[in-house]
Amino acid sequence: MRIFVITGAGISAESGLGTFRDKDGTGIWARFDPMKLATPEAFARNPSEVHAFYNARRRNLLSAVPNSAHFALARLEEALAERGGSLALVTQNIDDLHDRAGSKEVIHMHGELFKVRCVACATTIPWREDLGLEDQCPSCAQIGSLRPHVVWFGEMPMRMDDIYLALYGADLFVAIGTSGSVYPAAGFVSEARALGVRTCEINLEPSDNASHFDDKRYGKASEVVPAWIEETIATM
Ligand code: OAD
Repeated sequence: MRIFVITGAGISAESGLGTFRDKDGTGIWARFDPMKLATPEAFARNPSEVHAFYNARRRNLLSAVPNSAHFALARLEEALAERGGSLALVTQNIDDLHDRAGSKEVIHMHGELFKVRCVACATTIPWREDLGLEDQCPSCAQIGSLRPHVVWFGEMPMRMDDIYLALYGADLFVAIGTSGSVYPAAGFVSEARALGVRTCEINLEPSDNASHFDDKRYGKASEVVPAWIEETIATM
């Protein structure tokens, strides 16, 4: 069995990382304007403000730990591999909680908060501290050329070829903790359906794409994901 899973901010909510657009209006984008913080134009106009936003999120991630939903997905990857199957785990999250929970192969389509990239020489560098205009690229020595290694609105998500390859080969498509409002990730479920693949949504509440899912399970990721994974492993 080949399972394709796409995760979003909801899977990391119980690890203390904020979501972007919750229905109660407490999401990150209800408090901060994404057009001022998460676009290439915003970074060109006001890099210090963009750095401050990502520095705060990086500090928050330093003290966060994976929850039972992240651990269960690592277990699923192992269980599928033992039975000759595979898990394609694609995340929109820039946190590293899937990696820290033990998932071996994670596709970070929106980039990674613990990496920075030099706009002068294109080198990607692991980075856990605050980032600022005074920082120097360790590779080309340019000052002020480092940016967060994340995908901003208007930029192409990463590893799209790998993602579509996995999607086209999947027997089951599962979306976890995502509102289904940011493309191209929000469109994956329709493509899976068009291919005749069974689809399952796990979220706190029905997402914007709820009508595209065959199976829907609502509740906290920390409870619903491990339960779904135990059930899936038992039937394999
Ligand atoms: P959103 O914040 O849009 O959606 C999070 C979803 O998780 C919502 O539907 C919540 O109901 C659900 N949720 C909240 N707590 C949960 C819990 N404990 N268990 C299960 N579900 C829970 O986040 P994403 O869909 O990931 O992109 O957002 C997609 C992209 O929009 C992000 O990658 C980011 C953002 O702008 C960029 O910055 C480019």
